[in-house]
Amino acid sequence: MAHETDGLAVVTGGAGGIGAATCERLASAGMRVVVADLDGARAEAAAARLVGAGHLGMQLDVADTPVVKERLDALVAEHGQVHTLINVAGWDRFVPFVDTTPEFWDQVIDINYRGTLNTVHAVLPGMIEAGYGRIVSVASDAARVGSSLESIYAGAKGAVISFSKSVAREVAKNGVTVNVVCPGPTDTPLIRSMADDLGSGERFMEALTRAIPLRRLATPDDIAPAIAFLASEEARFITGQTLSVSGGLTMA
Ligand SMILES: NC(=O)c1ccc[n+]([C@@H]2O[C@H](COP(=O)([O-])OP(=O)(O)OC[C@H]3O[C@@H](n4cnc5c(N)ncnc54)[C@H](O)[C@@H]3O)[C@@H](O)[C@H]2O)c1
Repeated sequence: MAHETDGLAVVTGGAGGIGAATCERLASAGMRVVVADLDGARAEAAAARLVGAGHLGMQLDVADTPVVKERLDALVAEHGQVHTLINVAGWDRFVPFVDTTPEFWDQVIDINYRGTLNTVHAVLPGMIEAGYGRIVSVASDAARVGSSLESIYAGAKGAVISFSKSVAREVAKNGVTVNVVCPGPTDTPLIRSMADDLGSGERFMEALTRAIPLRRLATPDDIAPAIAFLASEEARFITGQTLSVSGGLTMA
């Protein structure tokens, strides 16, 4: 029977805060990790820091449909099947809906939703053929409860959740599980740059902290274990689920 450590584990956004912590977890569990990120140099550097051998760094824009298919097909041809896919790549800016533009909608939807469609579409046939697969996508609690100034992003992440449940139903019989992790506010470069855009970064972070029952923002190391568990062989009977990791901010 196929096992989690047999194939490759591809982590998109793997050079970022939550992505890099996830790559470290998977590498520590003995997986061979492919760190895929828009920033190829940071992906290479992150792969080089991982424990164990055979990890790879890859420049990848998840929003670029033909390139995602091309690169992931070439990866499989050269290095073997992808047994684990973790979709972490994501991006947003705080903007009131009335001030957003269709160009901004496209950008947010392409990275956060279409990016997930692209990677899943590329690797799922191989997982079905192998009779084993783990797909974990990172959405957001913004998708579950709404978030002011993040309407397009929340919608795109909501689409990731609905898509994941639907594909989970289609491929459960093939030994492939599909789940979603929803971080709450997490201290990474993404949230810091978004807070800075508001012009009151520190005050915003303090207000967020007060709203979280566990009284702090998450760190990437709070999120990565949940992703790694759902990506493990042991999570074999869990599929189509959405898990919030948010210090109790949402209890949906
Ligand atoms: N930080 C938070 O508070 C928070 C909360 C909820 C959900 N999330 C989600 O968690 C995920 C990780 O975010 P993070 O906070 O670690 O941010 P981050 O900015 O540290 O990491 C995101 C990574 O994705 C990469 N990326 C961006 N666009 C890409 C593209 N088109 N193709 C490939 N890679 C791309 C970036 O280069 C970066 O390395 C995202 O999906 C984000 O939406 C974050």
